[in-house]
Amino acid sequence: MNPIKHVAIIMDGNGRWGTSKKKSRNFGHKQGLKTVEKIIKESIKNKIKYLTLYAFSTENWKRPKNEINYLFSLLHNFLTNKIDELNKEKIRLFVIGKKKFSKKLNDLLKYSEKLTSKNKRLQINLALNYGSKSEIINALNKLKNKNLTVNAKNISKNLYTKNIPDPDILIRTGNRKRLSNFLLWQLAYSEIFFENKLWPDFNEKDYNKILKKFKNTKRNFGKI
Ligand code: IPE
Ligand code: IPE
Ligand code: MG
Repeated sequence: MNPIKHVAIIMDGNGRWGTSKKKSRNFGHKQGLKTVEKIIKESIKNKIKYLTLYAFSTENWKRPKNEINYLFSLLHNFLTNKIDELNKEKIRLFVIGKKKFSKKLNDLLKYSEKLTSKNKRLQINLALNYGSKSEIINALNKLKNKNLTVNAKNISKNLYTKNIPDPDILIRTGNRKRLSNFLLWQLAYSEIFFENKLWPDFNEKDYNKILKKFKNTKRNFGKI
C-alpha cells in the first residue's frame, strides 16, 4: 500500500455550481469554502502531512473585479475567524505564490504563516497568485544569479515548494482535464484524479475513494 504524504487539489467548479443553483458565481465560492474545511479535517484523519490547495492563479486576475474582490474577502474573513482554531489543531499555513495583495491581506497572510510556522500535524500550502511557469522562471533566474548549476536538485530547491515532498496525488474537480499552470514541475510523477463533481459538491466520501484507489495503485517511477 502506498503511503500518502502530500495531496494537491485544483478546486474547480465553484462558479458553475453557483449558477446551476440560479445564484451568483460568488455564492459558489462561498459554498466551496465549506468543502475546503471538510477536506482539511479529512486530511488530518488520514494523517496526510501536506495539503496544497489551488485558490487563485496568476491567470485569475483576468476575472471581473467583483469576483476577485469577493474571493479575497472570503479568504480574509476565513483567516481572521479561523487562524486561531487552525493553530490549535497544529496546522501550519504556508503560502505559495507571490504575495502581492492589499497591505491588509499581505499582513494577515504573513501573520498567519508566522503564527503557525512551528506546527507539524498538517501543512496547508495555499496557492495564491500562483503560476507554475513563473515559479520555474524565478527558480532558473535565481540559479543564474547565484552562478549555480542548472540541475533537478537545484531547481527544486529554488521553487516555492522547496523542502516539501512532491505531491503523491493531484485531484482536479469540476470536470476539466487540464493543469491550468499548477505545479508543472512537482507533478512529474503524481497520480492524477479528475473528478466530475464541482468543488462545492465534493465530499469526504469522494475524497476517501480517491485515497483508497491511490493506495492500491502500482507506482513505477520508470521501473517495472
Ligand atoms: C474555483 O472554481 C476556482 C477559483 C478560481 C477560486 P471556478 O471559479 O473556476 O469555477 P468554474 O470553473 O468557473 O465553475
Ligand atoms: C484553476 O481553475 C485555478 C484554481 C482552481 C484556483 P480555473 O478555473 O482558473 O482554470 P481554467 O481557466 O478553467 O483552466
Ligand atoms: Mg474554473
